Amino acid sequence: MKHFLSLSDLQPAEIWDLLEEAIRLKEEWKRGGNKPLLAGKALGMLFQKPSLRTRVSFEMAMQHLGGHALYLSPFEVQLGKRESVPDVARVLSRYVDVIMARVFAHSDVVTLAEYSRVPVINGLSDYNHPCQGLADLLTIVEKKGKDLKGRKLAFIGDGNNVATSLLFGATKVGMDYAIATPPGYELPPEVWSLGEQFAAESGSRLMATHDPAEAAADADVIYTDVWASMGQEDEAEERARVFAPYQVNADLVAKARPDVIVMHCLPAHRGQEITDEVADGPHSVLWDQAENRMHAQKAILVRLLA
Ligand code: CP
Ligand code: NVA
Repeated sequence: MKHFLSLSDLQPAEIWDLLEEAIRLKEEWKRGGNKPLLAGKALGMLFQKPSLRTRVSFEMAMQHLGGHALYLSPFEVQLGKRESVPDVARVLSRYVDVIMARVFAHSDVVTLAEYSRVPVINGLSDYNHPCQGLADLLTIVEKKGKDLKGRKLAFIGDGNNVATSLLFGATKVGMDYAIATPPGYELPPEVWSLGEQFAAESGSRLMATHDPAEAAADADVIYTDVWASMGQEDEAEERARVFAPYQVNADLVAKARPDVIVMHCLPAHRGQEITDEVADGPHSVLWDQAENRMHAQKAILVRLLA
């Protein structure tokens, strides 16, 4: 593993190795602290968009492992505006040992990786969110066990970056994946056909529908995300209207298995894609899920650097 740009680039064995390492690092940290595996190493974090989880979990991951993290705000580097993306990669990779970038265009994180001397991690692009996807697999394994064959993840909402990484993650580990979106908001066809290819290799069953109840039926995991992603603020009003029937509420949760877990990558727009009742209810695993970003990213950093 040279970079971490998309779960679609990883073999199932590499994903399982990252999950095992994340579990080990989490247990070690809970017992009193991690060994300084990344002593003397520095992570440069480039942000074109806001963040709570990604920024803080990467920063604390580096601190717990004895390294250092450097936050570069959207106004600082101005990727591609103040300086070309290749030049940013050439310069930044002379100072730090690993780069994490949150970008608008996925092509920018690919270009960073191409011109960087050090590993590049995708901290969310418009195409996908692989750190989220890996952390979510960790949460699912913790709650449901490692035998994910026949387990069903139902994604309700927009066919977006998070839905894409979950499709790749689920089909790599053999989990069934169903997605319910409004017409016109499906996953891109090239994403779906990659999912079909991985599913054929792992035995995952796939479903894409416009009916949230059909997707949620007998699900082990119900997952949702915001209806308008960062960069789509102009469409928020229109999307709120179109996506209204796709709310994850108690009625929808009742269609799933009785022990279903409800997940959301956060930030949540409570009262839109998820109700308070569900977000704060007995099926919600939202806070364990958010914590697991840190543990999963420690595993990514250790595998890229150690
Ligand atoms: N889920 C997630 O990536 O959160 P942030 O946007 O706060 O980093
Ligand atoms: N789909 C959301 C995820 C935020 C973590 C976005 O891209 O804004």
